Amino acid sequence: MPEAASRPRVAILISGRGSNMSALLDAMREARVPADPSVVISNVPDAPGLAHAAAAGVPTAVVDHTKVTPREAHERAVMDVLEAHRTDIVCLAGFMRRLTPLLIGAYRGRVLNIHPALLPAFPGLDAQKAALEYGVKVSGCTVHIVDEVVDHGPIILQAAVPVLDDDTVETLSARILEQEHVLYPRALALVAAGRVTLDGRRVRVG
Ligand code: GRF
Repeated sequence: MPEAASRPRVAILISGRGSNMSALLDAMREARVPADPSVVISNVPDAPGLAHAAAAGVPTAVVDHTKVTPREAHERAVMDVLEAHRTDIVCLAGFMRRLTPLLIGAYRGRVLNIHPALLPAFPGLDAQKAALEYGVKVSGCTVHIVDEVVDHGPIILQAAVPVLDDDTVETLSARILEQEHVLYPRALALVAAGRVTLDGRRVRVG
């Protein structure tokens, strides 16, 4: 494990439950990811994940998008918190806001997202429902670098799960979520260790 001074500092942006956030915090605490948490930010004041982060001793902040408007002002406020906590990497973990080029540009290549489908299939909301209704036999999750297009940037890692005949949105979502909690820390570990380089859209792991 590198010295704290050389480990990147990771902010996690949430809007709700925060189970991926908890998986990332656990992985950093247990040194499976060579990084330290900087801050957890929620745009929703009563997001359950905030209490889990606080219980884990991680600084938290709320930047309420209904109070800080317009969109650009909200994003600037989020960026002020990121900077105040000396953030190097930003992980979106169920953050239900579309980022603007402002933040994406400031942290180019250092904003990660997890999506509950095998991109480029089923981008956007309710991906598990869309996969089920389409009738695919395999779905999964994707960790990717965020660019200006929603659920579009270069793919770091993917994990597949079967879609079973008797699946409901709930059972499929639970099967995917179990993989999300493994995949996201693995992807963050690669980025934090500086092992990820880009060749066009292709992510190379060195
Ligand atoms: C996850 O399914 C994630 O893939 C999607 O939003 C959900 C967030 O769940 N982006 P949680 O808040 O991490 O529990």
